[in-house]
Amino acid sequence: MSKRIVVLTGAGISAESGIMTFRDGGGLWENHRIEDVATPQGFARNPSLVQSFYNGRRQQLKSVTPNPAHIALAEFEKNYAGEFMLVTQNVDDLHERAGSQSVIHMHGELKRVRCQLSGQVFNHDDDITPEHQCPCCGAQSLRPHIVWFGEMPLYMDEITQALSQCDLFISIGTSGHVYPAAGFVELARQSGAETIEINLEPSQRADAFHQAIHGQASIEVPHFFRSLLQNS
Ligand code: NAD
Ligand code: APR
Repeated sequence: MSKRIVVLTGAGISAESGIMTFRDGGGLWENHRIEDVATPQGFARNPSLVQSFYNGRRQQLKSVTPNPAHIALAEFEKNYAGEFMLVTQNVDDLHERAGSQSVIHMHGELKRVRCQLSGQVFNHDDDITPEHQCPCCGAQSLRPHIVWFGEMPLYMDEITQALSQCDLFISIGTSGHVYPAAGFVELARQSGAETIEINLEPSQRADAFHQAIHGQASIEVPHFFRSLLQNS
């Protein structure tokens, strides 16, 4: 019987595409205070600062492309006969652009915005400006569709359900500092799954995994998933 697989990705998988990680040297959180740009309180204090931070990140998507790690996951999904769930903490769209059909964005998406009044979510490629009116109510109520610190990550029911039934959990390019994602390895282990980390260096949670592969995602991910497919 084929294995039921859950993959979790973090900023490390997009690093080689040119999107800065959060916590590595020179990462996004070195140049921006989390409290200012990634909390509901920061947004209430200074909405234009927060909008311009995410406008910049949204614009950056126009100049980056998926790397071999994103492509390898999309290829695997296409060719694998068993159950496969791809969960990402990333808010970029590189998995989709690599060809992944079904991507669970637990921390939201840069290319979507949300009405703060109705909760409705809309696709949105460009900057959010103070003049922007919400398509549903006409108010100046749009915010990035991004999960900020202190907010509830998205799709937790689907994710925990899949983790509670999986045979293999693979975590790629995440430092293991941010929960609940950092705790997925335990949930998978409780279901008896084999757990593997693929990261540039041992993450904060490295000891919780059965196996760790340390190296660049663009090299290790294609290598790992090619042999997983051959042996499935
Ligand atoms: P936190 O502890 O403040 O909040 C975590 C939230 O998740 C809480 O509301 C908690 O109730 C909920 N939660 C925890 N486990 C859950 C589960 N099993 N099912 C459902 N809900 C659960 O955590 P935090 O470290 O402040 O981070 C909050 C989230 O915001 C994280 O996912 C983080 O990555 C994200 N975030 C995103 C950005 C960004 O710019 N993209 C920035 C900061 C934080
Ligand atoms: N290949 C593999 N791993 C890499 C590479 C690479 N080329 N480059 C960096 N890494 C690893 C780093 O060693 C680090 O452990 O990726 C990890 C990135 O960690 P973080 O910057 O902390 O990113 P992430 O774990 O995704 O952050 C989680 O925190 O601020 C929030 O919402 C934000 O979703 C984000 C969450």
